Amino acid sequence: MWPIYLDNNATTRADPAVVAAMLPYFSEQFGNASSAHAFGSEVAGAVKQARKSLQALLGTALDHEIVFTSGGTESDNTAILSALDNQDGRDEIVTTAVEHPAILSLVERLGTLRGIKTHLIGVDSRGQLDIEAYRRALGPRTAIASAMWANNETGTLFPVERLAAMAHAAGALFHTDAVQAIGKIPIDLKATEIDMLSLSGHKLHAPKGIGALYVRKGAPFNPLIHGGPQERRRRGGTENVPGIIGLGKAAELATARMVEELPRVRAMRDLQPSHVLLAMNVPMPALRGAVRFSMSHDNTDDDVDQVLHVLPDIIAGLRASSPSWQERPRAAPASPFRSKELV
Ligand SMILES: Cc1ncc(COP(=O)(O)O)c(C=O)c1O
Repeated sequence: MWPIYLDNNATTRADPAVVAAMLPYFSEQFGNASSAHAFGSEVAGAVKQARKSLQALLGTALDHEIVFTSGGTESDNTAILSALDNQDGRDEIVTTAVEHPAILSLVERLGTLRGIKTHLIGVDSRGQLDIEAYRRALGPRTAIASAMWANNETGTLFPVERLAAMAHAAGALFHTDAVQAIGKIPIDLKATEIDMLSLSGHKLHAPKGIGALYVRKGAPFNPLIHGGPQERRRRGGTENVPGIIGLGKAAELATARMVEELPRVRAMRDLQPSHVLLAMNVPMPALRGAVRFSMSHDNTDDDVDQVLHVLPDIIAGLRASSPSWQERPRAAPASPFRSKELV
């Protein structure tokens, strides 16, 4: 029996079609996309095509709104640091308490090193953002508001179109970490006020070490990495051509699969809890969220059935060996995700 992989929010398997598309760019097509000769121009053409595929997935109007990066972490760091360096008199950040460490550890460090104040907006027990606290935190000193589109642990979607409009009303830029949303929900950036968006290839059946940052035309922008003229001087360093080609192919596949695959993956994710687990009296919050299973189009209904079949014994075994289960608190602990300020 093949191992069943249900942790697709951590990473996905590179699609065989993605790997096949990348392979020539390690061998025959090894040129540097910036070279003026034929080796370079052919590769540059392929990079251009990959950018177009990503544009189609994101619904962006212009190819130069996409900057290839090394992944979600670099894109997130670039967005926040660029916004801070670009707007006189605006030196505060508004973000959420449930962001990925790519945002949270950066803002914490900015507080320590540069005294940058960050407002961390909390969520309720269903993972929904405290919109009023978000509104109150935005002000004349806000450089950027950043909120993830989909949460990597719970899958909760934040209303980022609305959050972007609210940030703009306060004169601030808006960034979203869409690493967990891309390829899973339809996105049309042209129809939103989002200024910057981060994505990562390895959550999308492309390889690790490639990602992109969308930067709306006209949004003030400073590179994080300075070097050569690559990416219109917005990200120095020779392009990761095989990675870019892989990301382009993955974007093309995701666009094509969006209609037929999404309902299937969603249905697998939302199966009702197993009757066996219910019979074991596992409390509903634990049933719904304590273990993260995340699906991709690689999974089948059989995978899910098999996991549900073996899970009760695994849980029983874990509980038997876990002192914390025996000593578990009767009342729910206070949420660590209340709004707070970091300086
Ligand atoms: C929401 C979110 N943002 C950012 C990242 C970081 O992306 P990368 O691994 O490409 O740096 C991840 C990866 O787990 C993520 O889930």
